[in-house]
Amino acid sequence: MKIANYELNSPYILPAIAGFSDMPMRELCYRYGAGLCFTEMVSAKGLVYGSDNSGLMLITGENERIRAIQLFGGDPHFFEKAILDERLKKFDIVDINMGCPVPKIVKNGEGSALMKNPELAYEIIKISVEAAQGRPVTVKMRAGFSLEDINACKIAELAEKAGASCVTVHGRVREQYYSGDILFSAIRDVKNSVGIPVIGNGNVHDKNTAFDMFEKTGCDGVAIARAAIGKPDIFAELTGQTFEKDLAMIIKEHFEGLLSYLPEQVAVNNFKKHFVSYLKGYKGSKNLKNLITASCSKKDVMDVLRKVEDLTKGLN
Ligand SMILES: Cc1cc2nc3c(=O)[nH]c(=O)nc-3n(C[C@H](O)[C@H](O)[C@H](O)COP(=O)(O)O)c2cc1C
Repeated sequence: MKIANYELNSPYILPAIAGFSDMPMRELCYRYGAGLCFTEMVSAKGLVYGSDNSGLMLITGENERIRAIQLFGGDPHFFEKAILDERLKKFDIVDINMGCPVPKIVKNGEGSALMKNPELAYEIIKISVEAAQGRPVTVKMRAGFSLEDINACKIAELAEKAGASCVTVHGRVREQYYSGDILFSAIRDVKNSVGIPVIGNGNVHDKNTAFDMFEKTGCDGVAIARAAIGKPDIFAELTGQTFEKDLAMIIKEHFEGLLSYLPEQVAVNNFKKHFVSYLKGYKGSKNLKNLITASCSKKDVMDVLRKVEDLTKGLN
């Protein structure tokens, strides 16, 4: 699959996942075969006003083959200013969030609220394409805002007209949040109405569900979010690579990656949710999860990580 001039190594994509798709997670996903990985969503306004939190989300790793950032907002001028910002120059691809269902975001006219405002959505994409100066701009959307208003085709057509290079469609409407049936037909309709590549998204968690998404929609790529949390090696499974899973090593690398750019306390706290996800389904991991929750320092976490080796030995 190709996005503008970028040939992806595989059609499996890690989309933006707030609180999760941090630099170490993206590096691990690339290593296991993801074709493209996006940062967590970053506020265009926050970037322009220099919020510290936004700055930390701009950290990228040496092993990110393609650097892709996702921005959210509701004002075209903040998108323009953010994309023109020196700190964003290193990103190869800029993605625009038009899918976030969180009430606070929607109330501000951001995320999935943009699906209800096609004129503004068009303006944001157009100004972003101009500011990106030749770098591809992509759009991540939902099937629509509500089941009564499934308008992904219209938004995708406008995105293409405004110069977007690819669209990702999460096959649910905003009011479904993250559960309920995937509207494969909405993704298929988008694929049939635009010439740019289309990435299908929603509930893909293994080879069969990925196959289904390709088959039912004709999409060019598939984005995997929740199934990649705590399991970056899902991309190896999907791409058919054989590998020997060393969970303890993956977890340690993730923690060390966070420590490489975050203050110790922040790294420890951010790491906890990843740790719990990595051990999901492992028998006997409850005690370790309790220990990680109580961890306050790098040393505490390292002590727990040594215990992970014992737990996972022989379980692969
Ligand atoms: C915790 C969480 C955070 C998310 N953050 C973002 C985000 O920052 N930007 C975005 O476009 N989508 C975000 N999503 C949506 C996912 O990218 C994806 O579209 C959705 O989870 C459906 O895919 P899945 O079934 O593979 O999880 C988030 C989803 C979850 C569960």
